[in-house]
Formats: sequence, structure tokens, C-alpha cells
Amino acid sequence: MSAYPDVTDKVTLASLAQKKRRGQKITALTAYDYPTALLVDGSGVDIALVGDSLGMEELGYDTTLPVTMEIMLHHAKAVRRGTRRALLVVDMPFLSYQVNADEAVRSAGRLMQESGAGAVKLEGGVAVAPTIRRLVQAGIPVMAHIGFTPQSVHQIGLRKQGKDEAGAAQVREDAQAVQDAGAFAVVLELIPDALAAQITEMLTIPTVGIGAGAGCDGQVLVTSDLIGLRPDRTPLRHVRQYAQVGAEIARALNAYREEVEAGQFP
Ligand code: KIV
Repeated sequence: MSAYPDVTDKVTLASLAQKKRRGQKITALTAYDYPTALLVDGSGVDIALVGDSLGMEELGYDTTLPVTMEIMLHHAKAVRRGTRRALLVVDMPFLSYQVNADEAVRSAGRLMQESGAGAVKLEGGVAVAPTIRRLVQAGIPVMAHIGFTPQSVHQIGLRKQGKDEAGAAQVREDAQAVQDAGAFAVVLELIPDALAAQITEMLTIPTVGIGAGAGCDGQVLVTSDLIGLRPDRTPLRHVRQYAQVGAEIARALNAYREEVEAGQFP
């Protein structure tokens, strides 16, 4: 018996590039734990993303900034155990790549080596292009992330980017810079639909949008948004909720409590 699992349809950088060339849409969802990874991978999406959004979605912080390497590794390992087919992409947390390129290589190397990820994702355009180049030279596939970049929320605010001509020019420059540096794909977050479509035309690498319209090569959503898990939040406008899982869980928990209190269970 082979030591390697029989996963002939495993998503690779090459299969994602081929999807762009063929005009086939790329799909991505976040996963932060083993059961969600099983569901995400089983859904047939191309990319399982261990996003640092887990800081808010899983750990209850207000931003992604408190998320550390140790936290990312802890979650990425669990997701890896539940992922068979999708490409596993792990976010580089705040301060793990901004200080200098050597530290970035060490951080990304750790994420790949210890979690078994297939790629890392980091935020920024022109400013981080030299770091992306170093990572790619080290054999580490990089997904870029431009437009609204959550790790800079205190600087840029939670708002759509690239709305005026100067802003749009900056996002276009960022897109070109990350492609030139060797990123295999780029997330476009919260930018005008027309700008995202233009960048998608301009680039040879796939664009994966969130709040960036239908003109991207693919889409990514935060899974807890899509399934309606959070009872404490109204989802942003770009989110489509395909289920109300939080309400269903609340119903089950209440039913359990009521039945125990009424002597009906066990
Ligand atoms: O952290 C995350 O979940 C992300 C997606 C929103 C793309 O970066």
C-alpha cells in the first residue's frame, strides 16, 4: 500500500491557475477547527482558509490583531486533520511578517512545517511585495490579500477601499506588485465591484473576492457568516446566509434544558 493517501483530485496551485484560464469559478471558505474542516472539505470548495478572522469568530476578540503564531498553529493543525482535498491556506498573523523578510520566512516556514498547510496568506500590496518574493524564493506559496486588510483596521477603518481614483490606482498597483512578486492568487476584500473586475482582467493569477462583486475569479466567505452561526451579530451586506445554524443550536439547547427541568430527559 502506498504511504500517500489516494487523493487524485487534490486542489493545487496548478489546478487553481487552470480554473482561471478556463473561466471556472474558484470557491473558498474559512475553517478554524476539525469538524468545520470536515464539512468545508466535504463541500467540495477549492480552498480551506484558516483565516485570522478566527480571532473574532472563534475567540471573541474585536479584531484580528491579538491572534498569535501559536494560536494560528493550534487551529491550523486541527483543520489539517480534517482536510483531504481542498488546498489548505493559513493566514500569517499580525507581526509575523511585517518586521522583516527573514522573520517572515521563519514564520511562514513554521506554519507550513508544523501545520502541514499548502500555502500561507498575508496582507498588503506594494509594501509587502519584497517579502512575498522572499517567501516564494524559499518555496512557500503565497496568497496575497489587498483592498481592505483587517490587520490595518486601526489605520484604515472598516470601510471599502479604492473608492476614489487615487485609491483605485493604489489597489491596482498593489495587485500588480503582488503578482509580480510571485503570489499565486490574491484576495480582494471590500473594493468596488468594477475595480475588482478590472483587476481580475488585468492579472494572470486568480482573484478571490469578498465584498468585491461577481467579477472576481472566485469568492471567499467566512463560514460562520454563511451558516448564520453568530447570534450576536448582523452580517455585513456582502454576506449571503445560507442557513441559520445559530438559531437551530439555540433551539436544541433550550429544548434540552426544558426537558431536564421538566423531568422528561433522561
Ligand atoms: O481571515 C479571514 O477570514 C480572511 C478572509 C476574510 C479572506 O482573510
